[in-house]
Amino acid sequence: MERMTNSAAQLLLEIPDRETLDRALHMAVAAVVDEIPHYPGALYLRPTLFGTEEDIGAAARPSSKVRFYVLTSPVGDYFAGGLKPLRVKVDDQAMRSTPNFGAVKTGGNYAAAMRQVVRAQRELGADQVLFAPGGEVQETGAANFILIEGDELLTKPLDGSILPGVTRDCILTLAREAGLKVSERNFTVEELLERAPRGEAALTGTAAVLTPVGTLLYGGREITVGDGGMGAWSAGLREQLCAIQSGVAEDPHGWRVPLRAT
Ligand SMILES: Cc1ncc(COP(=O)(O)O)c(C=O)c1O
Repeated sequence: MERMTNSAAQLLLEIPDRETLDRALHMAVAAVVDEIPHYPGALYLRPTLFGTEEDIGAAARPSSKVRFYVLTSPVGDYFAGGLKPLRVKVDDQAMRSTPNFGAVKTGGNYAAAMRQVVRAQRELGADQVLFAPGGEVQETGAANFILIEGDELLTKPLDGSILPGVTRDCILTLAREAGLKVSERNFTVEELLERAPRGEAALTGTAAVLTPVGTLLYGGREITVGDGGMGAWSAGLREQLCAIQSGVAEDPHGWRVPLRAT
């Protein structure tokens, strides 16, 4: 909700207050609670906000009217076919978004990235594109990126160019607790390619939780990450987060929210 509120502010859209947003989400879940599939299925929530002012000439003005709704959809096991390490193209030219708009959750960012992703799929059989404009590693089209090598977990800091992922935050917290040195700093494609063969790389996001990257595709080369499979740190962090999400493990950080009736 905080991310949505921040995104709405960047888009100059009015948004309901936090209490109303929370209530809308709880009401939406309560309305379909009997249809939520059992874990590892889930109920996907997509609160949505868009401008609706009927004014064809208002291209340079914010919309004075908005519509807000919460879309709910049952989703199956994202990994029903097994957890296959991804092939990820590293693109050191294209931008996923603009420097300050990368932290905004808005449809335009996905539309902008889509062409690169589809091209990488067609030409290289890649699953995703890791955007690294100017040689600085950012994130993929719909997930944050982490590298683990030695005792360090490395990921880009939240500087406005990447989406502040909730899963990223959870994984960094669990990694710190597990004894990894978490470095939120800028790093280059060169450092990534040098360290990846000895380490682990993964994408983090709501749907993917933590999905290993097995191969990086760059400049006509295929670089195997670790042994190409899921590394021990990745497997452990993923399992821990899933256990908290599904209620199997304790929730010391208060990440689970009890459903309110109204
Ligand atoms: C561009 C982008 N980065 C990162 C994420 C991961 O964010 P979260 O962990 O909050 O799902 C998403 C997914 O929402 C995304 O679309």
